[in-house]
Amino acid sequence: MQCYMHDSAYHETPKGSCLESVKIAIDTGYRHIDGAFVYFNEHEVGQAIREKIAEGRIKREDIFYCGKLWNTCHPPELVRPTLEKTLKILQLDYVDLYIIELPMAFKPGDALYPKDENGKFIYHETDLCATWEAMEACKDAGLAKSIGVSNFNRRQLEMILNKPGLKHKPVSNQVECHPYFTQPKLLEFCRQHDIVIVGYSPLGTSRDETWVNVSSPPLLKDPVLNAIGKKYNKTAAQVALRFSIQRGVVVIPKSFNPQRIRENFQIFDFSLTDEEMKEIAALNKNVRYVELLMWRDHPEYPFSDEY
Ligand code: A2P
Repeated sequence: MQCYMHDSAYHETPKGSCLESVKIAIDTGYRHIDGAFVYFNEHEVGQAIREKIAEGRIKREDIFYCGKLWNTCHPPELVRPTLEKTLKILQLDYVDLYIIELPMAFKPGDALYPKDENGKFIYHETDLCATWEAMEACKDAGLAKSIGVSNFNRRQLEMILNKPGLKHKPVSNQVECHPYFTQPKLLEFCRQHDIVIVGYSPLGTSRDETWVNVSSPPLLKDPVLNAIGKKYNKTAAQVALRFSIQRGVVVIPKSFNPQRIRENFQIFDFSLTDEEMKEIAALNKNVRYVELLMWRDHPEYPFSDEY
């Protein structure tokens, strides 16, 4: 399950709701937890995991926790201390996956969204290869079992893959992916390079206008998804998730509602036919819900390229 981004423009999860939701998710059978320092709830995620281990329901090795390196922490010397801070908050010895959250560096410091007196974001020179080398060192030190990236476009992935002396390839690239934004080209490129696509917003986001492009219609109202759902006695959400996993995309649906957390897990008892998969793939609109336009003037803004 995915937790949430935070900024003045983003929303923090209500205190305690993340703890409860993660515990329900683990009881339901979820094992992959997608978190980040900037979601401001890693302490709750860590507590939920530790409580479930203490109850004897799971072992640490059953859980797959993904943490993220924030934009203000890209300078290589900040990478390991930042991950160590996350581990301290989680009270865990390692994360299963540590990823560069965005390819865009911001000015390091206490402000996570640094702005100048005119309200303009303060960026920082980015050397993604140098950041990547520091990520590799975290893996070598055992602090992260695997390392990956997020919101990287093809050019940025190639920059890492072609880096002289590359020690560890990114295992995954977490990007927006769902029936209205199927990412066929990036998916194919990543397949060729053994990079797993982890799809965020697999249900079409919460449609919060402060950060979502709501000009793209609501995914879960789609007539095709609903009609196919009817046939299997499933919801549009379950069909959307099933579509993604059936084409090899990992999904991280976000919900803080116990019933919907359970609903989103009931996707392993049916499968879509090839015809239905094609029908859903044809819904692709090539329009993102998450455009991050406020950072489009960043030199490494990833979404100007075709893919
Ligand atoms: P809630 O937390 O109230 O369940 P995404 O994973 O694409 O970011 O979508 C998250 C949004 O979808 C949240 O607003 C979440 O609200 C809602 N959501 C999660 N699961 C379902 C579901 N099964 N049916 C409808 N809406 C859902």
